Amino acid sequence: AQSNEDFRPQFHFTPKSGWMNDPNGMFYLDGTYHLFFQHNPDDNVWGPMHWGHATSKDLIVWEEQPIALEPDEHGTIFSGSAVVDHQNTSGLGDGNTPPVIAIFTYHDAEREQEGANDFQTQGIAYSTDAGKTWTKYENNPVLGNPGIRDFRDPKVVWYEEGNKWIMSLAVQDHIKFYSSSNLLDWEHLSDFGKNSGNHGGVWECPDLFKMQVGDTGEERWVLLVSINPGGPNGGSATQYFVGDFDGTTFTLDESVEDIGEEHDYWVDFGKDNYAGVTWSNIPQEDGRHIFMGWMSNWQYANEVPTETWRSAMTIARTLDLKKTAATYRITSSPVKELENYKTDGITKQNIQIEAETEIIKNGEISLSPSVVEVNISNFKEQDYIFQLKNDAGNVLEFGYDAGEAAYYIDRSQSGITDFNEDFASKRSLAPRLSQEQDLRFTAIIDNMSIEIFFDDGNTVMTEIFFPNKPFQTLSAKSHETFKIENFEAHQLNFN
Ligand code: FRU
Repeated sequence: AQSNEDFRPQFHFTPKSGWMNDPNGMFYLDGTYHLFFQHNPDDNVWGPMHWGHATSKDLIVWEEQPIALEPDEHGTIFSGSAVVDHQNTSGLGDGNTPPVIAIFTYHDAEREQEGANDFQTQGIAYSTDAGKTWTKYENNPVLGNPGIRDFRDPKVVWYEEGNKWIMSLAVQDHIKFYSSSNLLDWEHLSDFGKNSGNHGGVWECPDLFKMQVGDTGEERWVLLVSINPGGPNGGSATQYFVGDFDGTTFTLDESVEDIGEEHDYWVDFGKDNYAGVTWSNIPQEDGRHIFMGWMSNWQYANEVPTETWRSAMTIARTLDLKKTAATYRITSSPVKELENYKTDGITKQNIQIEAETEIIKNGEISLSPSVVEVNISNFKEQDYIFQLKNDAGNVLEFGYDAGEAAYYIDRSQSGITDFNEDFASKRSLAPRLSQEQDLRFTAIIDNMSIEIFFDDGNTVMTEIFFPNKPFQTLSAKSHETFKIENFEAHQLNFN
């Protein structure tokens, strides 16, 4: 049976050792993408948080760097963001290069233990060597706590129209917006969300940004809010709100004005994509909104069967905003840089699925890691069943279930599942949001994960698994019949 290092993803980011949760402080500068992350370097479970650090030239291959931020007298270092302060508004630059400013939450566990409510405050650190080394600001915290227990995860963006910085902060059951001209002094602007969206748990890790609506020329603001628990399939997940931001207030678009507890505006419906936010300082000529999430769920993250390290990030994804007849939708797709790693492939046309059919046979290509792309031209309300299998008897099943009228992932037979009963006791379901006739999907498979982008990323499902052997085959079946017009699978090679 496999264990530990066998499960380590081939390319999804994992820390060499120790615990990881949320992605933090992502920014791009001078050809390098920076990723920081919630990290407990001394244990494989959540504990005193540091910001770990990794860098990449292309968002796909990551290299771990020395730890960026360590706990200090104000507390441990919770989630937050980073911006490049081009105009040196903070005055923390050295006069030559724009400083990079990290804005994060200090968590003072001692005050928490004493029963205080004000143990989370916001602090900043700055780097004058493009993110390599960091100095904490001497007058931290820059935003004190008004006596609220959950007061964290500052995400800062530059608000061009008003020439100021905007901070979104997760505060229990809503988001508070603040503004600042210098990243040091913050003024409260407004609150959003007490009566909107899902409140099955605490709100965490917001992100506010402006998006182009397809190529209509229209622009809309999007607010991502992670919530734990409350996710559509239990535990942690990330919901989103579409509307406008006028420099002070976020207002919902009229199509989602009444968005309540039950809704289908989730960045990802799978169980394993949490606390995701977008990169800052992406050059205008690139223009992408690049997102990454933590590929786990607080229900079982501390118990998954790896030992030297715990948790991986999702693949970096491009978010787009699309207008439909009724509303606006975020779609996700793997960043295009992944294409550079595609090698040996299988291409097949017009595969008729009558009985169970092995589309990828044992040994044809290595499935971990790989990209599988399927196009079925004539979607009907019937079952479409896909299975990854190995000769240890493990099955990871996914597809479309007509009885539920939903996409699904079933990992109940996928290998080691008994470490936590919430891991595989229920299939995960996701609505088919696309109206198109084609059923298309792209699945990205790595040693312990599958990320399925249905219908060009209109519905996304990400889940992890721990098979006793790597999956070797992919087969398809149905209770009816169907035809796969186009099938493509490529191994990914990182050597
Ligand atoms: C989200 C979260 C954040 C917090 C961090 C602590 O997963 O709970 O709200 O800042 O993790 O590690």
